[in-house]
Amino acid sequence: MVSIAVIGTGYVGSVSGACLADFGNTVVCVDSDSEKIKALKQGIIPIFEPGLDGIVARNMQEGRLSFTTDFSGAVKASEVVFIAVGTPPAADGSADLQYVETVAREIGRTIGKWTVVVDKSTVPIGTGRKAREWIQEELTRRGAAIPFEVVSNPEFLREGTAVYDFTHPDRVVIGTENEKARSIMKDVYRPLYLNETPYIETNLESAEMIKYASNAFLALKITFINEIANLCEKTGADVQDVAKAVGRDGRIGSKFLHPGPGYGGSCFPKDTRALAQIGREHGEPVSLVEAAISANERQKLRMAEKIQAELGDLHGKTIAILGLAFKQNTDDMRESPAIAICERLAEAGAKLRLFDPAAMKEAEWRLAGIKASMTFAESEYEAARGADALAILTPWNQFRNLDLNKIKESLVLPYFFDLRNIYKREEVERAGLTYIGVGR
Ligand code: UDX
Repeated sequence: MVSIAVIGTGYVGSVSGACLADFGNTVVCVDSDSEKIKALKQGIIPIFEPGLDGIVARNMQEGRLSFTTDFSGAVKASEVVFIAVGTPPAADGSADLQYVETVAREIGRTIGKWTVVVDKSTVPIGTGRKAREWIQEELTRRGAAIPFEVVSNPEFLREGTAVYDFTHPDRVVIGTENEKARSIMKDVYRPLYLNETPYIETNLESAEMIKYASNAFLALKITFINEIANLCEKTGADVQDVAKAVGRDGRIGSKFLHPGPGYGGSCFPKDTRALAQIGREHGEPVSLVEAAISANERQKLRMAEKIQAELGDLHGKTIAILGLAFKQNTDDMRESPAIAICERLAEAGAKLRLFDPAAMKEAEWRLAGIKASMTFAESEYEAARGADALAILTPWNQFRNLDLNKIKESLVLPYFFDLRNIYKREEVERAGLTYIGVGR
């Protein structure tokens, strides 16, 4: 059992804090936002993440998890301090490190005994070393000779399955050269260690690179299949069969080969841009990643163009949009392809009727720029009623089993854009609808 402070109660912080407590550690989660802490103390979770509320409630009840705004008290009481604050993109695509620096310096001003400082935020390679300097500078200023270690321990959790991902990781990456810090990290993740989860022990820079390389590779994989899909459309091939067969090659693997409107979310777009920026800074451009970034932007617009190509002039046309979140099981619309697609369709004169099971609240302000062109519907069928086309942008489970006859009756024109390839062409056509997928 290790005493832990987690700084930052955003996505990574709240999931990590709750799950680390569930591993048997004593965890105090810290945030400067007192409203957020007040809510968390009452068990109100600020993010939509299946299973998180239960794990928070249980660990609070059992006394292993607490929330506070008292940074100093929490840090002083802990052996391990996790930094889990945001690293939002700056204008040039690089990660903005101001919150990481603020927290690192604050740690330097606060610690009173040997402390392991763990970075969980995704940060450019070299930030761990910088954090060490920031902490040391503050200690020197205080005239304090307190030893500490900085560890990089990147997080690979996916929104919607974050609790599962944290508790069943493919690997745990521990970046440090210090034996004592490494051993305390094993204690932090003791249940996983006992379960023989692979541990990758490496230096700070490699751990930081592992996170970027993993996310960039997955983004490349998606972009690759999207480009193959586009080419399938022109050549008469069916990307579903292509991806299935290509993915059967064990060296390639079938995951993240699903074509669609492009990747979105809080990680892939941000991390690919940051990695590209790091490459340029070092005079070693990561040209594949640069290419994926622009291809992904094109992919989003291609979806709007696909709709325009079928419907012609969009003035006076209404399009039902099913799905606004960047993927299913989340209310998150950060970098969602739906934003670019809806904006493009609205610019071209279309009226949009939007439905998403979780993201409509967020859509109100994310799509504020096209407010005059959109209305929200209560259900899939209400969105379709009187529309000229229906487009599925997010593969929510409830969109996978639509009553196609009812959809056909509701639509004025029969266009069914399955932009996540979740339907079989024949079943859609059997209902009298015109099927348009991606790459088939
Ligand atoms: C991702 C990584 O998976 C996770 O390991 C990392 O730590 C954070 O970023 P997340 O952003 O939550 O997680 O979503 P993910 O499920 O990976 O999907 C990312 C985007 O790619 C979504 O927009 C999704 O719709 C899209 N995607 C995914 C595809 O278009 N095709 C695929 O085959 C897979």
